[in-house]
Order: sequence, then C-alpha cells, then structure tokens
Amino acid sequence: MVIMRAIFFGTVVGFFSIHSWAITLVDDKALTSLGDGSNWLSYGRNYSEQRYSPLEQINVESVKRLGLEWVMELPKDKQLTGTPLVVDGVMYFTGSFSVTRAVDAKTGELLWEYDPKSIEHAGDRLVNMWDQNKGPAFWNGKVIISTIDGRLVGIDAKTGKMVWETMTIDPRRAYYITGAPKVFKGKVVIGNGGTEHDAARGYITAYDADTGEQAWRFWVVPGNPADGFESPAMEMAAKTWTGEWWKFGGGGNTWNGITYDPEFDQLLVGTGNGSPWNQKIRSPEGGDNLFLCSIVALDADTGDYKWHYQTVPGETWDYNSNMDIVLADLKLSGRNIKALMHAPKNGFFYILNRENGELLSAEKISKTTWASHVDLKTGRPVEIAGARYEDGSEEVWPSPFGAHSWHAMSFNPNTGLVYIPTIKQSAVFTDGGVDIGGFESPHRSVAVGVAFGTADSLPDAGSSTLQAWDPIKHEQVWEQPLPPQWNPGTMTTKGNLVFEGRADGRFVAYHAETGEILWSEELGLGISAPPITYSVDGKQYVSLLVGWGGAGLISGSLSAQHGWKYKVHPRRLVTFALDGSYTLPEFLPPAFATPRDVEGFVIDEALAAEGLEIYSSRCFLCHGGGVVSGGMAPDLRESVIPMSHDAFKSVVVDGALLGNGMPRFQDLKDDGLIALHHYIRKCARDLNSCQ
Ligand code: HEC
Repeated sequence: MVIMRAIFFGTVVGFFSIHSWAITLVDDKALTSLGDGSNWLSYGRNYSEQRYSPLEQINVESVKRLGLEWVMELPKDKQLTGTPLVVDGVMYFTGSFSVTRAVDAKTGELLWEYDPKSIEHAGDRLVNMWDQNKGPAFWNGKVIISTIDGRLVGIDAKTGKMVWETMTIDPRRAYYITGAPKVFKGKVVIGNGGTEHDAARGYITAYDADTGEQAWRFWVVPGNPADGFESPAMEMAAKTWTGEWWKFGGGGNTWNGITYDPEFDQLLVGTGNGSPWNQKIRSPEGGDNLFLCSIVALDADTGDYKWHYQTVPGETWDYNSNMDIVLADLKLSGRNIKALMHAPKNGFFYILNRENGELLSAEKISKTTWASHVDLKTGRPVEIAGARYEDGSEEVWPSPFGAHSWHAMSFNPNTGLVYIPTIKQSAVFTDGGVDIGGFESPHRSVAVGVAFGTADSLPDAGSSTLQAWDPIKHEQVWEQPLPPQWNPGTMTTKGNLVFEGRADGRFVAYHAETGEILWSEELGLGISAPPITYSVDGKQYVSLLVGWGGAGLISGSLSAQHGWKYKVHPRRLVTFALDGSYTLPEFLPPAFATPRDVEGFVIDEALAAEGLEIYSSRCFLCHGGGVVSGGMAPDLRESVIPMSHDAFKSVVVDGALLGNGMPRFQDLKDDGLIALHHYIRKCARDLNSCQ
C-alpha cells in the first residue's frame, strides 16, 4: 500500500500541494483501523492504544541509515511530554502550556500556532500547575487540546482558529489537566488531576466534539452521602468507604489512561490514587474505597457504569491505575480473548477480558513488596504484613513514582511483546511528622498525608530499564538498562523495531525480538516524550519532542545528575528518515548547578526547619527535592534572588516572573521568606544536611 502510494503520488506531487491528495476523515472508522501507517491519528495511534505502526521502510536492516531529516527549534518551550499527531502530512503537537502548532510533516515548516494563554487563565492557580501537556486529539477537522488551567479548546485544523472552548473544572478547586483528550463517536472526553493539593474529587466528562457542549460526567468516588448520589454506582461505591472521606475529596482523578473500546462500545477509564494517599486519614476504618486505582468500564453514550476491576483495594501508597490501557486480541489458555493490558504503578501486569472485566492474569514485572501475588479466584492482591506502614514506617517497593508510570508502553502484535519503561525503586513511607488525627485538607499546597523518601535517600537507589514482556507466557523476554529514573514511552513497528528516547538525551532503536541496540543518536537534552512514526509520499519518518518534563523531575539529585539545567539546553521537535542528512548545531554540554555558600551567613536551624516545611509543601514540585532542581525551574541554591529580601519578595510574593511560569504566593509573609532563605542556604552549604 505504501509503495503503491509512493509511485502514484510521485507523479502528482509536482502539481498539487502535498495536503490535497488524501483527505482522511478522522472518525470512528479511521480510529478503529490499523490504516496504512501514513497517519498517527490519536495519542496511542488508534483506539487500540498499541502505539504499533504497520510501516516497515525503516526496519532492522535499514535503521542504521536513519538520520535527521528536519528539526524545529522550540526556544520558548520548557517541559515537553506530548505525543504529536499526523493527519495527511500535517503534524499537530502541543508544547509547554499547551501552545499548539501545525507543521508540514515533510519539511517541518510551521503552518500555524495557537496559544491558549494558559498562564493568564490559571492566574494564582498556577501554584500547583506544571507546564507539561501530553498532546492533542483530532476529530473531524478539529484539533482538540486540553489546558493546564482546566479548559478544552476545539481548533480548526486548517486555520488554527479557536472554534469552541469549554471550562471542565471548578476553578475554585485545585484541579488541573496535563492529560491528552480522547475522542470517540463525536465526543471528546477528559479527566483531571489535583488530588495532591486539595479536596479535588475525581471525575471524567464527555463533551460534544463539534461544540464543546457537555454530554455526561462520571464521578469516580462518592461525595457526601447526605447530599445524595449522582448515580447507582456512587451509592454502591460509598459502601466501601469509612469516616468522612468527602472532606478530603477522596481522589480517583483520571489524569491519564482513558481508552475507547469500539468492540464493546465502552470507555475504559484508569482511575487515580486516594486523596490523601494515607488511608488511615482518608478512610480510617479501612474499606476498598471504590473506584480508586481501578479500571472502570463506562457506557460510551451515557457514561453509565458497566463493570470495574480494582488493582489496589484501599490504596495507601499512591499506586494509581492511570497508566495507559492497551487493547489486543490475545489467545490465552486456548481461548480467543478480547483483552486489555494494563501496567499500573503497583508493579503488576494485568490482563482482563474486556467483555466483562474478568481478571485473567496479574504478574509482577518488577520488585514489588506490598503484595505477594494476586489471587486469580478472588481477583484481589494478597498483601504482605507491614506494607501498609501499620507501625508508622516501612520500606516498600515500588515507590510512588511507580514500577511503570504514564510513559506509554507499546504492543507489537507480530512479536506478541509489550515494551514497558520500568522504574525499580522503593520508598520509605512513614506517618512520622504527619498528624493523622487532625489532618485537614489544605488548599493549594502539597498534602498527601504521608511522608516518603525515595531513592536519593535510600541505600538502594534503584534502577530503570526497558523491558519486553510476554503477556501470555508471563515472562520477561529481554531487558535493557536505562539511566535513572524517568524515561519516556515507547513505539514499535512492523519493521521489527522498538523506539525509545532516554533521560540522558539518547534516542535508541532496539530489535523488537532481541533488544539489541541497532541504532542510536545523541540529541543533547533529556527526553520525556514518546516517539511517533508516519509517512508522506511513501517516505517513512520518525519524530519526537526533545525536552524533559513530568513529576519524576521533582526527585532532586536523581534527575539533576544528567545536567539538563532549566532553560540552558534548547528544546526541539526532531524528525528522522532514512539517509536524512541534517546536522544539529553543536550541543551544549550538561550543566550543573553551582550552589553558592554565602560566607559568614549563620544558619538558624529552627528557621531552616520552618523553611523546609514551606518548601516541601509549596516549592519542591517545581524546584526539586532538597532544593536540587531536576530542570523544571531554576536551582535555588545558586540563585542570587533569595539573597536579597526585596528581590525574593518581588518574585515569590508579588509575581515578578509570573509570565514565565513562576507562580506568586501572596499569603507568604516576611518571616516565611526568611525561613525559606535559611533553608535554601543550608542546602546550598551542605546538601546532605538538608535532605
Ligand atoms: C509551578 C512551578 C513552581 C513553583 C510551585 C514554584 N516555582 Fe519558583 N520558579 C518556577 C519557574 C518556572 C521559574 C523560572 C521563571 C523564569 O523563567 O523566569 C521560577 C523561578 C523562581 C525564582 C527565581 C530564580 C532565578 O534565579 O531566576 C525564585 C527565587 C523562585 N522561583 C522561588 C520559589 C519559591 C520560594 C517557591 C515556593 C514558595 C517557588 N519558587 C515555587 C516555577 C515554580
């Protein structure tokens, strides 16, 4: 098909613009089909979310000829986590703060740019918002984007002009959106995040993709029973909660992991962790706390509950199930199964029958110490005593970053393997310093109801790998080491390849069957976004956003070791093809912070301790653990600004850098700023003393 097209269009290209020869109606039919590989129509390429492409021009033999074809410089961007889409030779992608661009996929020429002005819309809500976005959706001539401040925006794909805009959240609460919208049957669906900051009860909403009008909403966890229930599902779920959970919001937020299943006309929704994480606070007498950490199947037309499977009953470790849900036909024990595959944070790999939610298998893909196994008869995990930090403190694998996070896994139907970016890391969870009894849900600061220390501070810092997992034989087929700890999603092709960027800036092609590294290229900046592939005029391309982004970067020195400093290294959209000969400008070498120790400055330990409190709840999300920046914001240990009270105040309280994404904290008083200064100086002088 690809070759025929190449020959045919090879003769026409001179007469017509490259965009006029094939008009794909992006609808259910197009999104259900595997297609010929020329387009990448949705986040996971099509409804299956497999991230598998039937293209094979770039294959195990030819991949060594892969070279840069074109590059788009993105000087204003910071975090890049998105999956670009390609429709008929035009690429659409979202950069930082959801700035959306349409680009000629053959040349990299900018066709239009749309800025949803997220910072202005967010205003003071920016305090708990990152600038990352996982990408757009495309439906029937429209590009639909989500914004960090909570909107969905429909944009005309030809002109780049906004057609409709809808606010999907209550701006008085701490909700935000980083996830990609998903489209199906003329609707677009989106969830949100926010549980770590406020009583932001989780829900998911479907809107009309042509107008933005609301179609239905499904609440993930029950509210206060005294207010009545929105659905029979919430009434059922409320029986699994204790105490006054609604005061804390409960959680369950769907910030990623929504799949439309055309065969059963249902939406499969991966749900979030509890809010606060610590169940002793949230639901003190225990209970499963439905529908936290679950896959919930909803009727696509009405949003009504159909069935659910809960991966972590009564969760207490941030082990959410927001990771992608991948659809495939699998042959299991002689049965042909319409299956779904899911590798949530909790360390197990699940296969479910999509027809009814029946659990078919659950196997560990990484060191996991909270449960010994999952009982296939009851469908429930068998927990290990102590794992719930019942005695106040326990080291548990995996950490809240998860054995697998939102970095997409891909499935290759030819090899039958799933390619999963894996994080092997533990955390010490502790009630220490947490007021279990008097916990109140504070607004606009980080509050999870449990303290945890991850790799940096533990003897075993953990490791990261890319693993090929056989879902049927339940075994790992190959594994390749990756740099710690935050590596992006994967893509696999009929050319028998797996592509993945890496935290250290290298982009790699692996043999899909053996894991052998067949090709790699240095791109000069850490990568957090997954690659895509497409073709124009019969030529296959591979593209990805080169940047660095996401919650993993809050882990201080573990991220900072790569030297991807805030705003130092240029962000780019890069595209490769066989025999591509474009060369990148020379790289800037990794750059590391030089902490300033102010000679003679006397650190007041009590003030520094107070500063740590403020820092942990308000600053660390962007500036990094231990005041070591992972690259999302400047490293405050070397900044001169905190050294001048007036300058510090103008940035932190008055919002002098608001336009660049540094929020203002108008309620911070002078004594708070002084305490922060003492804590920053302490970390600048001796990192070990401040963690
Ligand atoms: C939502 C993310 C975010 C949070 C939360 C945040 N910052 Fe920032 N901060 C930034 C970004 C981004 C910049 C860089 C802005 C720019 O490019 O000018 C920045 C810049 C700064 C600077 C200027 C550094 C320099 O040398 O240019 C200071 C000082 C600062 N932040 C302090 C704080 C403090 C103190 C807190 C907590 C009370 C905090 N920030 C919370 C994102 C954040």
